[in-house]
Amino acid sequence: MNIINNNIYYVGVNDRNKSLFEGLWPLPYGVSYNSYLIDDDKVCLIDTVEVDFFARYISNIREVIGSRPVDYLVINHMEPDHSGSIALLRQYYPDMQVIGNKKAIGMLEGFYGVTDNCVEVKNAESIALGKHSLTFHLTPMVHWPETMMTYESATQTLFSGDAFGCFGALNGGVIDDAINTDWCWDEMTRYYSNIVGKYGIPVQNALKKLAGLPLAYICSTHGPVWHSYIDKVVGMYDSMSRYATVPGLVICYGTMYGNTERMAEVIAEAASKAGLKDILLYNVSKTHHSYILRDIFKYRGLIVGAPTYNAGLYHEMDVLLAEIANRDVKDRLFGWFGSYAWAGKAVQKITEWNDTRLHFEAVGTPVEMKQSLNAETQAQCEALGRAMAEKLLADE
Ligand code: FEO
Repeated sequence: MNIINNNIYYVGVNDRNKSLFEGLWPLPYGVSYNSYLIDDDKVCLIDTVEVDFFARYISNIREVIGSRPVDYLVINHMEPDHSGSIALLRQYYPDMQVIGNKKAIGMLEGFYGVTDNCVEVKNAESIALGKHSLTFHLTPMVHWPETMMTYESATQTLFSGDAFGCFGALNGGVIDDAINTDWCWDEMTRYYSNIVGKYGIPVQNALKKLAGLPLAYICSTHGPVWHSYIDKVVGMYDSMSRYATVPGLVICYGTMYGNTERMAEVIAEAASKAGLKDILLYNVSKTHHSYILRDIFKYRGLIVGAPTYNAGLYHEMDVLLAEIANRDVKDRLFGWFGSYAWAGKAVQKITEWNDTRLHFEAVGTPVEMKQSLNAETQAQCEALGRAMAEKLLADE
């Protein structure tokens, strides 16, 4: 059993079986579904876990409270990785009151048919549990419309829902200063960019709303409990939600037979010769898009290229560009290139993506290659890489 502080317990579970979170995003280190229990005059749970893990979950709860009932269940977020056990919990604790905001209570009925013993709370309302007191802060769209955060004032503990969450199972320890957190930072960026990345403005609004609260612990629904690294994780969320970047270049390409890949390599070599050190090259068909998106959230420069395919753009690149656009990524320096065997469409399609959806600042001249590199297209690729590097370094 893991105690966070002063009768607040971790009762969450770890999923090391699932390959893809939301059926989309790889989980090389697994994922945790965090739930917390406050053992006071009133027993209160904060969020639940995915229903497949209910047996483990109810065992964790009973390890803390034995045969005592749960009085309250606070629902910060209704996505089923956190709400999935509500209906079963109700069977164990029929008198348990479910506390949520209006939107959460609407979703309770829709997902689980739960309509009785629900208590609607509004922004800034509080309930007392005994020594602990909970105040509810509505933070819509971090990451669904019903999301809220719950603040426990006696221990200065924020139950933050998905915010400040991180992919990766918890392997023994729960609080950051009890574990080696080296693996967390890239996985936090990948979690943010993949799952929450579209909602930069709501995250900024939430950060402003919470700015005055003293924080000793942040208890998210995924990943470690933050205690020693609170400033770092809040800073990361602030930076990521502002789409802030560091100088560096992500080059991602589609390729079928290596000709378009060669263009990417020439661009990268030219950028390197121009003095740029942080250059990442990704084959979009090999590296899962979640990792590419993670790095696009980090770095200011982005160059993409792909072959023409069926008189359009190579499918994997189309998907990646849609994923970038869907997250409203802003303020990137953008270059592009493409190839064709007999009729070029790739460069035109990427241009259309930028004109209509991405709206990034174009750098250099797009390069269009027929069949394979020749002296002219090689020089054009070099010019593109050089132009991007010079712009990134000049803006540093
Ligand atoms: Fe972890 Fe938005 O649910």
